Amino acid sequence: MSIPRHVAIIMDGNGRWARRQGMPRIMGHYRGAEVAEEITKACIDIGVEYLTLFAFSTENWNRPKEEVELLFDLLRNYLTGKKEELIDLGVRLKFIGRRDRIGKDLRLLMEELERDTSKDYRITVVLAVDYGGRDDILRAVNKLIRLEFDHIDEDTFSHFLDLGDIPDPDLLIRTAGERRISNFLLWNLAYTELYFTEVCWPEFTVEELQRAIEDFSNRKRKFGRVLDE
Ligand code: FPP
Repeated sequence: MSIPRHVAIIMDGNGRWARRQGMPRIMGHYRGAEVAEEITKACIDIGVEYLTLFAFSTENWNRPKEEVELLFDLLRNYLTGKKEELIDLGVRLKFIGRRDRIGKDLRLLMEELERDTSKDYRITVVLAVDYGGRDDILRAVNKLIRLEFDHIDEDTFSHFLDLGDIPDPDLLIRTAGERRISNFLLWNLAYTELYFTEVCWPEFTVEELQRAIEDFSNRKRKFGRVLDE
């Protein structure tokens, strides 16, 4: 079986799952964070090198203020005190997205985790927080303007995006039945294989992940070329 080096996931359906269980939406996000941890461990076992998770988009600010606050509380609570566990597991944590609209305490925690989990790792987990694909591209363009570039190639441009030198995702999984990219890694998903499942993120399992990888394994990736018959 061919294993994707980089898996990206749009973890959708937390709210729907929670409502179906008769619980407040935020409980779906809490269960979602646990699932993210289980899937990270499975990716380590499988040999995936990069796992990118869409935790909060630039558009998610438009949700009710209470849900936004609870989501950031969740992220802060979840990441606080996780450092040793991440290091023991061999997880290097990296964050992508804007840093100028989130609270200072969370920002400092993110910087500390990025710094202290950067050695002897088996997987890089990229958490997209206040991330938007268009915003990522525009921030890169504005950096280039400030540096007075007048010509640029694809590799150099990629380097200025949030994922930097991390290879493009091989497989994108989106849960909960929607079939959209929703302003996720617009540049980096150019040749990514897409996998959609009806299962909501809080009920996503290691078996579901294996099914997605098996499906990926059967795809013929052409990157615009003609494959030999
Ligand atoms: C989409 O479900 C999910 C989100 C907007 C947030 C995802 C965040 C987490 C799973 C927590 C991540 C935390 C860590 C530490 C990885 P939705 O609310 O849009 O669901 P719905 O479409 O059913 O309403």
